[in-house]
Amino acid sequence: MSNRIKIYGAGSIGNHLAQASRTLGWEVTVCDLDGAALKRMQGEIYPSRYGAWDPAIRLCLNGDAPRGGFDLIAIGTPPEHHLALALDALKEAPRAILAEKPACPPHMNHAAELLAAAKAAGVRAFVGYDHVVGRAAALATGIARSGEIGEVVALDVEFREHWEGIFRAHPWLSGPQDTYLGYWERGGGASGEHSHALNLWQHFAHVFGFGRVLEVEAMATYVREGAAIFDSIMSWNLRTESGFQGRVVQDVLTRPSRKRCRIQGSRGTVEWVANHTPEGDAVFVRLPGAPEREVKVAKKRPDDFIEELTHVWASVTSGTDSPLGLERGLDTALVVAAGHESERLKTRVRMDWSAGHKREAIVPCR
Ligand SMILES: NC(=O)c1ccc[n+]([C@@H]2O[C@H](COP(=O)([O-])OP(=O)(O)OC[C@H]3O[C@@H](n4cnc5c(N)ncnc54)[C@H](O)[C@@H]3O)[C@@H](O)[C@H]2O)c1
Repeated sequence: MSNRIKIYGAGSIGNHLAQASRTLGWEVTVCDLDGAALKRMQGEIYPSRYGAWDPAIRLCLNGDAPRGGFDLIAIGTPPEHHLALALDALKEAPRAILAEKPACPPHMNHAAELLAAAKAAGVRAFVGYDHVVGRAAALATGIARSGEIGEVVALDVEFREHWEGIFRAHPWLSGPQDTYLGYWERGGGASGEHSHALNLWQHFAHVFGFGRVLEVEAMATYVREGAAIFDSIMSWNLRTESGFQGRVVQDVLTRPSRKRCRIQGSRGTVEWVANHTPEGDAVFVRLPGAPEREVKVAKKRPDDFIEELTHVWASVTSGTDSPLGLERGLDTALVVAAGHESERLKTRVRMDWSAGHKREAIVPCR
């Protein structure tokens, strides 16, 4: 029997997840609060991206959506709704829940509650930081672990991309003020939108045994555009519980974009580059005195979500841990929040993880 997925949100990510699910042969229901969004999915976004509408996809307003009997419930709405919808989804007893990134805005409301409720219900919960389960990240990990570049000594991630591309893909929006993207407190701005970078940094810190982030010193620049107020750039200096130091930069200013992760070893470097060419990602290996080695990872945008859903389902059926697990996604949300707090206080902050995924876990280092 094929899997059944319900997707909240008929916008950009809702279309990606619906198409990926159909490619995997799943039964798909997409629901939205807005009838115009459902019409746009069927008449514009899906056919223009994937060639034709797929009539097997069931579309409905939230109030008409079936409840119960789903294997996976995915939440592809603006960040401020993710965790409340996830808590509601738990009542339907799916096998798993997938919330989009960022898991929640910096207020962290519902975060600790959802983590506890999902655990108690035995429902697996994930956050959609798809890059960490992509083939290029696995390749970079394998090379770094092989010993070729020596011991990992530094880690630097940048997701610097002007958001004009997002607005081109959402022609019904006139600018950041029309969407959560223009409001950092709702999970938008560079810190929320490009939090893939911070998540990748945290992922590699775990992979190489450096542990969780312990100290955060960040700087952000806030921009006002009409009613909107968002960080156009945030940079974090980070130290983990084992003393490892590194840096993350995210902005919505840079064109052409730079999305890279540099793993510096004692002998050489591995660099992961997202969308290096229109044909896909790339991993570069650089050792002093040797020619640069480039490994191409061919992929198209839909592959990101097919790989993500394949990973999520494999993790559910095998019962194995996943770097997309809710706790990891909430760790990222809390370090985003810590970045804003560090900028506000003009000081370094420390993460008190024993307080859980709550704002109280962010403690000034004074
Ligand atoms: N992993 C990725 O690479 C990736 C890519 C795109 C978007 N995203 C994330 O997905 C989320 C949505 O982004 P988007 O670009 O698809 O936004 P969007 O504006 O295109 O679509 C969001 C949709 O959610 C609907 N919605 C709002 N509240 C709802 C509710 N309570 N129930 C049902 N539907 C509701 C809106 O009407 C809208 O149609 C964001 O958190 C974003 O960061 C992730």
